[in-house]
Parts: sequence; C-alpha cells; structure tokens
Amino acid sequence: MPENLLSIQKTITILAIESSCDETSASVCKDGKILSNIIANQTVHEKYGGVVPELASRAHMQNIVPVVDLAMKTACISVGDLDALAFTYAPGLIGSLLVGSQFAKSMALALQKPIIPVHHMQAHVLANLIPDQKPTFPFLCLTVSGGHTQIIMAHSPTNMTILGETLDDAAGEAFDKSAKILGLPYPGGPLIEKFAKGGDPKRFAFTEPKVAGLNFSFSGLKTSILYFLQKEQKLNQNFITENLKDICASIQYRIISILINKLKKAFIQTGITEICLAGGVAANGSLRCALQQAGELNGWKTYIPPLEYCTDNAAMIGISAYFKYLAGSFSDLSVNVSARADCFQRP
Ligand code: KG4
Ligand code: ZN
Repeated sequence: MPENLLSIQKTITILAIESSCDETSASVCKDGKILSNIIANQTVHEKYGGVVPELASRAHMQNIVPVVDLAMKTACISVGDLDALAFTYAPGLIGSLLVGSQFAKSMALALQKPIIPVHHMQAHVLANLIPDQKPTFPFLCLTVSGGHTQIIMAHSPTNMTILGETLDDAAGEAFDKSAKILGLPYPGGPLIEKFAKGGDPKRFAFTEPKVAGLNFSFSGLKTSILYFLQKEQKLNQNFITENLKDICASIQYRIISILINKLKKAFIQTGITEICLAGGVAANGSLRCALQQAGELNGWKTYIPPLEYCTDNAAMIGISAYFKYLAGSFSDLSVNVSARADCFQRP
C-alpha cells in the first residue's frame, strides 16, 4: 500500500480469520474497533481427549463460510467496504491454518485487496489492546494457552521479546492432562475450574517445580498428580469422585501459583509495572483474581481481556492486522502457513 494512499484513507476495515486449532472464527475490525467476533467451537474432539487434526480441518471447512458471513452481517459491512484480509499464518495445525489462509487469500484475490498474515501468539498479546483501557508500552504479558506458556515484553505492537517460556507442557496442557487423568473430557481446563469451586486448594500439596530464570515446566506436575491418584485409588477406588472438588482446587491452585510467582520474578527483573494476561487459560476466574491481587500487592497496573478475547478468536487477529496495516506491513499471496514459526526476539 503506497504511503500517500494511507494518509488520505479515512477508515481501515479489515476482515480477520482465525483457524489455527479447533475454533473457526471471523471478525471485522474498523479503525482498531471490533465490530464483530464470531466463534464456532468444535465439539467433535471431546471424546478423544485432545484435538484430532484431520477432524479439525474438516470442521473448519464446514464452518468457515457461515462464520465469515455472520461476522460481516453482524458488523453491517459488505465486501466492498473491506480494505484488507487478515489470517493466522502460524503457529498451529497445518490443515487448520490452511483453511483460514486459503479462504482469506481467495477473497483478497477476488477483491484485489492486500493480505496481512498474523502470528497467533503475538495476537493473543495484542488482545489486550482491544478494550478501551489499554496498557502502555512497554508492558509484560503472561500468555497462557493450550500450546504455549510465555512471558513476553511488548515494546510495540510489532516488536516483542520473549523473556521466558515453558520447557515442556503448557499451562493449558497441565489443566487438560490433569483433567484427562481425572476422567474428564477435553478441554479439561474449564471443567477443573468448575469443580474447583468450593474445593479446598490447600488440601493436596503438589510441589512447585524449580526452573531457572523465567522459564516454566509443567510436565512434572502432571506426573506427580498421576502417581498421587494411583496411590490413593489403591486404598480407595472412589477416591477421585469423593474428593473431586479438593483435587481440582489443589491442581488449579498450584498451576496458578507457578504462573504468578514467575510473573513476580519478571517484574523484579524488568521493573515494568504494566502487566497483562492473555490466552485461553486467562479465562480462568481464579487466575484473573490472582493477577489482580498480585497487582494490588506489588503496585502493578493489570489488564485482562474480556473472556471472548482470551480463548482463540479472530478479533485478536483483526487488532493485530490493524497495527500491521498502519505500519504498511503487507504480504503477497505466496506467504505460507507454518506449524512452528516464531515471531519474537530473544534477549
Ligand atoms: O488460547 P486457547 O483458546 O487455544 C490455544 O491457542 O491453545 O487455549 C486453550 C486452552 C485449553 O488448554 C483450555 O483447557 C484452556 O485454554 N482453558 C482454561 C479455561 N478455559 C480455557 N483453562 C483453565 N480454566 C479455564 N476456565
Ligand atoms: Zn491460542
């Protein structure tokens, strides 16, 4: 897009598509405001204990047309109003990413509009810029999702450094795998939260792993929960059903304490007091409360996106694409999706 065209253009309207895992989502973003955010969840994976890639891409193919159509109608936008098409290019399941990217590219080709590929993890961070109350740069962001756990220092919408990340399982996986051990369906995070309500979080003490710097490790926690339950079930076959609330509360408590303790370390290390939360696990009410409490104790200004912008959604792709549009960062149709591409600087 030529610079002089940007300066005379009055509005910027972007259709954004997210299809990296098991949510098909489309959003219209106009001048940095979200006009619609339609999300179709896939229930087909529940009985398999995790996302089945082939089933996910088939479901995206079924969902994408009605989801985009509804996003456009909800925003009262016609295709002629669009200035660019945005989509998640990485990371994620290749078959899933391809559905969203091919759809966006086809629309862009037909409309002769530019495309803006967006990195999913950068977009989770930028979901914090959707609400009116926004963090100021530089800010720290704890991003906790099903595939990632990261502490990010955001210098600008397009320049971020990764300060710490998980060495094995992500926080969301710790929730989901613990739930699976308890016999709960996928995704187990929201169910652990549900059953933890009214439970005693200190009843069962799962140890906090010692990991250097700002990195995380959750695989040991999963194993200690497994061994603990196996031992208890030998003594009492009904141990899980009789103690489900306390078990869930104790698991949730430990995962949250690991996350918040590292965030405190990141604050001490950087001195940054603008602190955000992002990703699917940020939908967890106890984690949201724990961040607010830590903020009050340590003098942080904390920011947590509304629930619909925490779990996977296209609005976060739209807001990220808006900033890329302002920066003149477009791609041509040859851009490829990637399961693993990184977008962060390393310290
Ligand atoms: O960001 P997201 O929607 O997808 C990925 O990019 O991975 O995150 C999904 C993860 C799943 O592991 C899910 O169990 C977890 O977020 N999750 C939760 C809650 N809601 C979603 N974990 C704990 N409590 C919740 N309320
Ligand atoms: Zn995500």
